[in-house]
Amino acid sequence: MTQRFSGKRIVITGSGRGLGFAFAERLAREGASVIIAEIDAALGRDAEAKLKAQGFDARFVETDISSEASVAAMAKIAAEGCNDIHGVVANAGWANNVGGKFYDEITPEVWDRMMAINVRGTWLTIRALGPLMKDGGSIVTLSSDTIYWGAPKLLHYVTSKSAIVGMTRSLAREFGERMIRVNCLLPGLTMGEATKDIPETRWNDYASRTILRRIQQPDDLDGVVAFLMSDDSKFITAQTLAVDGGFSMH
Ligand SMILES: NC(=O)c1ccc[n+]([C@@H]2O[C@H](COP(=O)([O-])OP(=O)(O)OC[C@H]3O[C@@H](n4cnc5c(N)ncnc54)[C@H](O)[C@@H]3O)[C@@H](O)[C@H]2O)c1
Repeated sequence: MTQRFSGKRIVITGSGRGLGFAFAERLAREGASVIIAEIDAALGRDAEAKLKAQGFDARFVETDISSEASVAAMAKIAAEGCNDIHGVVANAGWANNVGGKFYDEITPEVWDRMMAINVRGTWLTIRALGPLMKDGGSIVTLSSDTIYWGAPKLLHYVTSKSAIVGMTRSLAREFGERMIRVNCLLPGLTMGEATKDIPETRWNDYASRTILRRIQQPDDLDGVVAFLMSDDSKFITAQTLAVDGGFSMH
């Protein structure tokens, strides 16, 4: 595989498993030195070991994106031993077991936790790493295609993922002068640890409503992240890219 990211350091939050791990593995395969910024130490260590076993350059840094101090400590470690950080994939989020409650059943505590992780955490990540980034780098944020079709019984999640779109657009303007691009990826429902308990009937219903009529896998997304990280997308910024087999259109 081409080594588009040789000599480049890229931080991927929440990359102990799921989509984040798929992104880290793809970027590392293309030569990146990846930082696995993950809250779950067992997952983070395991992800680091899996990447190292393939001969890739990977380092786990225990990180809680909702904590300013934790993110600052991670950023310091991420900048060690490299001139500048090329990229950030702000992937970490609270995505598993979040559905099932109507708007008036979600408690304020759960609402606040969702915003603290998904919204504040994405901002804190970029706030800490942005000043350490190389001019000409790339930031990818993670939203969700649920914001286009207004998924029910997920109000706090959908609201948090809508905020990330606005955040991406404003950040893109603020980073533009440094030629750092900021784009937002909106995956559709994707098979993985966070979604494995979803009943088969719902998967099949979702797949039947995609234009491409199949269930989405993490490898439908990792090439898109690599594209947004690379110079192949060098004039794309402030955009929201839905990758969901055509489930949504905008
Ligand atoms: N899987 C899907 O269907 C889907 C669809 C649309 C969007 N997304 C988004 O993609 C991203 C990844 O989703 P996923 O399916 O891989 O979820 P996942 O739950 O499998 O992975 C999330 C990872 O983030 C970590 N994490 C959680 N809180 C953290 C924190 N405070 N600090 C650092 N790490 C933390 C978790 O430990 C986990 O390793 C999320 O932002 C999610 O909202 C997922």
